[in-house]
Amino acid sequence: MRLTQGFIPTLKETPNEAQIASHRLMLRAGLVRQTSAGIYAWLPLGLRVLRNIERIVRQEQDAAGAQELLMPTIQPAELWRESGRYDDYGKEMLRIVDRHDRDMLYGPTNEEMISDIFRQSVHSYRNLPLNLYHIQWKFRDETRPRFGVMRGREFLMKDAYSFDIDRAAAVVSYRKMMLAYMRTFQRLGLKAIPMEADTGPIGGDLSHEFIILAPTGESQVFYDAAFEDIDYGARGAGGFSHDSAADLERFFHAMTSVYAATDEKHDLEKWAAVAPERRREGRGIEVGHIFNFGTKYTKAMNVTVANAEGKQVHPEMGSYGIGVSRLVGATIEASHDDAGIIWPDAVAPFRAAILNLKSGDAACDAVCERLYTALGDDALYDDRPDRAGVKFNDADLMGHPWQLVVGPRGVAAGKVELKRRASGEREELSPEDALSRVTG
Ligand SMILES: Nc1ncnc2c1ncn2[C@@H]1O[C@H](COP(=O)(O)OP(=O)(O)O)[C@@H](O)[C@H]1O
Ligand SMILES: [Mg+2]
Repeated sequence: MRLTQGFIPTLKETPNEAQIASHRLMLRAGLVRQTSAGIYAWLPLGLRVLRNIERIVRQEQDAAGAQELLMPTIQPAELWRESGRYDDYGKEMLRIVDRHDRDMLYGPTNEEMISDIFRQSVHSYRNLPLNLYHIQWKFRDETRPRFGVMRGREFLMKDAYSFDIDRAAAVVSYRKMMLAYMRTFQRLGLKAIPMEADTGPIGGDLSHEFIILAPTGESQVFYDAAFEDIDYGARGAGGFSHDSAADLERFFHAMTSVYAATDEKHDLEKWAAVAPERRREGRGIEVGHIFNFGTKYTKAMNVTVANAEGKQVHPEMGSYGIGVSRLVGATIEASHDDAGIIWPDAVAPFRAAILNLKSGDAACDAVCERLYTALGDDALYDDRPDRAGVKFNDADLMGHPWQLVVGPRGVAAGKVELKRRASGEREELSPEDALSRVTG
C-alpha cells in the first residue's frame, strides 16, 4: 500500500482517555477508533492485524480437527431459557425485543445455540467426537469496559465446542485444544502459560486460562521458570501429535506438572516446593480459556445420542475461547517500546515499510518502486513528500518488523539501509540483498 493513498490516520497527540500502552498505540498508529464505550471500528491497519491473528487461530483449530461454521450474533432468548442462563447472565447480556415482541439477545457466547444445532442433527456416538467452532463478534455489557480492545463490550472471539460420548473421550478433546492453543500462541509470537482456572460448581481440573505476561495484565501470576523454555514444536514432526492419545497425555502432563497459577488459584504450599531461583512472578493477560463442563448443557437442554449399546446418553461438552481482538492489544502490551509498536513477524500488518527519504528524486523513487514492486502487498510504501524524521517516527510507531530506508546518498552508492524494528540493528545492503533478508 502507498501511504499517500492509504487510510492510516495516525495521531500526533497521545489521546488522554487511554491508560495503557496498547490502547494509546492502537489509537495513535491508526488501528482503531472508538465509536461508543467499549466498541471500536477497525481501521485498515488494525484490521490487517486482526485478520492475521484470525488466520493463525483458524489454521491451528483446523489442524486439531475442529470444523468451522458461523453462527449468528443475534440469538433467541428461548434457548437461554432452556439452559436457565437467561436470568442468570444478568446485565452483561444485551437484550433486544424485535417487532413481534420476541425476546432476542446479542450473543455473549454460544453454548446454547451450538447445543441446539447439535441436537437437531447428531443422534449417534458414531458421529463423535465432534468439535465445532466459529470466529464471531460477541457482546458483553461489561461494567467497566477499559484498556481499549482488551476489555471491550463488542469483541471478536474464537469459540469452539466439543462433543464426546464419555468423559475419557472428552479429556482427549480437551488436551487436543490445549495443544492447539499453545501452538497458536507460539506462532503468534507470544509466550502463553496455561494456568488452572476455577471450575466453580462443575468441579474437576479441566479448566485452564492461557496467560501472557505483560506488566499491565489484570491478574497477578506465579510460575515456574521452566515455562520460559518450553517449545511445542512444529505440527507433526518432532513435537506432540494431536492424533496420539499418548502424546496428548505426555503434553498435558508437561503443561500441568510445572507450577503456574493466577492469584485466584495461587497455592502457597506448592509454590514453596518450586526452587527459589525458578520462581517467577508478574502480571498476566488472559488471552484464552478452555473448559470442560461435562453434561451441564446437554442435560439442561435434553441433548442425547445413542451410545454403542443403543442407550440414549448425554454427551460431554467442552468450550474453548480465544480473545482474537483482545490479542491485538495483548500483543502490543507484550511487544512495544517508547517509540511505538514492535509487531511479531507473524501478525504484522505489513512485513516492511519502505521509507523514501526524498520523494520526487528520480533515483530514490526508482529504487523505492523496485522494492515496492517486489514486495507488493507485504510493504507499506511511505511515498509522502514529508521530512525524513516524520517517516522514521511513523514507521517506528506502526511497528513494521523491517524498514527499508532509501536516501540519495545510499542510492548513489547502490545501497539501501535495512533496519530491524525489534533490535534497532541497521545494515547497508544492496536493494536485492535487503529484499532477500525481508522475504527470507
Ligand atoms: N470483554 C472482553 N473484551 C475482549 N476480549 C474478551 C472479553 N471477555 C472475554 N474476552 C476474551 O475471550 C476469551 C474467552 O472468554 P471467557 O473465558 O468466556 O471470558 P471471561 O473469562 O471474561 O468470562 C477470554 O479468554 C478473553 O481472551
Ligand atoms: Mg475466562
